[in-house]
Amino acid sequence: MTHPASILLTGGAGYIGSHTFVALAQAGFTPVILDDFSTSNRAVLNRLQRITSQPVLCQQGSVADRVLVHDLMQRHSIAAVIHFAGFKAVGESVAQPLKYYDNNLGGMMALLRAMERTPCRTLVFSSSATVYGDPASLPITENFPRSHTNPYGHTKLVCEDMLAAVRESNPAWRTGVLRYFNPTGAHPSGLIGEDPTGLPNNLMPYVTQVAVGKRPFLNIYGQDYATPDGTGVRDYIHIQDLAQAHVAAVQALLKGADSFTVNVGIGQGHSVLDVVRAFEQASGKPVPYRFAARRAGDVAQCYADASLAKRLLNWHATHTLAAMCADAWRWQSNNPDGYANEPASV
Ligand code: UFG
Repeated sequence: MTHPASILLTGGAGYIGSHTFVALAQAGFTPVILDDFSTSNRAVLNRLQRITSQPVLCQQGSVADRVLVHDLMQRHSIAAVIHFAGFKAVGESVAQPLKYYDNNLGGMMALLRAMERTPCRTLVFSSSATVYGDPASLPITENFPRSHTNPYGHTKLVCEDMLAAVRESNPAWRTGVLRYFNPTGAHPSGLIGEDPTGLPNNLMPYVTQVAVGKRPFLNIYGQDYATPDGTGVRDYIHIQDLAQAHVAAVQALLKGADSFTVNVGIGQGHSVLDVVRAFEQASGKPVPYRFAARRAGDVAQCYADASLAKRLLNWHATHTLAAMCADAWRWQSNNPDGYANEPASV
């Protein structure tokens, strides 16, 4: 390869996209962001420039805009696409299902249509452990039956099926489906991290906001699950490990690997109380909590068998829960309001 391969990141300014941007740049790729900034902040671009010491290529716009996506791909001779852009709040998807079907399915459809008009047939897709529904046993392997319990989960499942259909129609397509478990933590610089809008849905951003004094206490949803301490168990994975999984996926596909679907987790479960204790230890801050009723739709336990990703991509997670907590805290304590007060220029 004479020049670095350009990789299009739809939703590249978001939490997972921004960390993957850094990992790709450091691996010698040229990442190009497409983002409509509906759930992200332009200020992240300054931070990416500071971390990578490189200009940040970014186009503002929607992945649903086929003409824009096509032009962008041609202009940058895109070799592979990572499709992060999508809504991800389970509760919101129940309240506003059409918003989810429109954005998540419409976005994927438009992207595939735009790609069809370019030479690029290489795509990595952000799927989720949500496609396993309530697993019958643990750990979860990729051949477990898939199901869905909300419109968000349904969109992930249908997107996976859309990719299977295009692969079937034309073997030139190479797709990598990454089923994320519970991404958490932040870049060790403390410059980029998770910046949810409004009340955080997920555990770690809620914990960090309690620790920084923005919320009085954490509600722990359920204390009577069939788990060692009664609280829900999940496979938390450091965002830096997740970002590296994307680099490994792109590298494999560009070297001609067959399409794959893999779990991206650490292969170990931690309870809500484990997270609270690890966070208190890492931050030195107390995290007051109260037990509350179970949250609708939550499963007791969910953790991956992560061995297929190791076998196919030679990737495995290396960061501990302590590192996830330390990095999440560095981000939150350095940026109590996230990106809110950062001037947006790049
Ligand atoms: N939890 C609390 N209090 C909170 C938030 C969460 O006790 O304020 C608990 C939950 O009940 C659960 C655990 O913390 O036991 C993790 O909850 P998250 O909301 O952080 O993560 P989920 O596993 O529920 O959801 C994640 C993704 C979803 C995805 C799902 C299944 O956020 O997008 O995994 O893959 F659908």
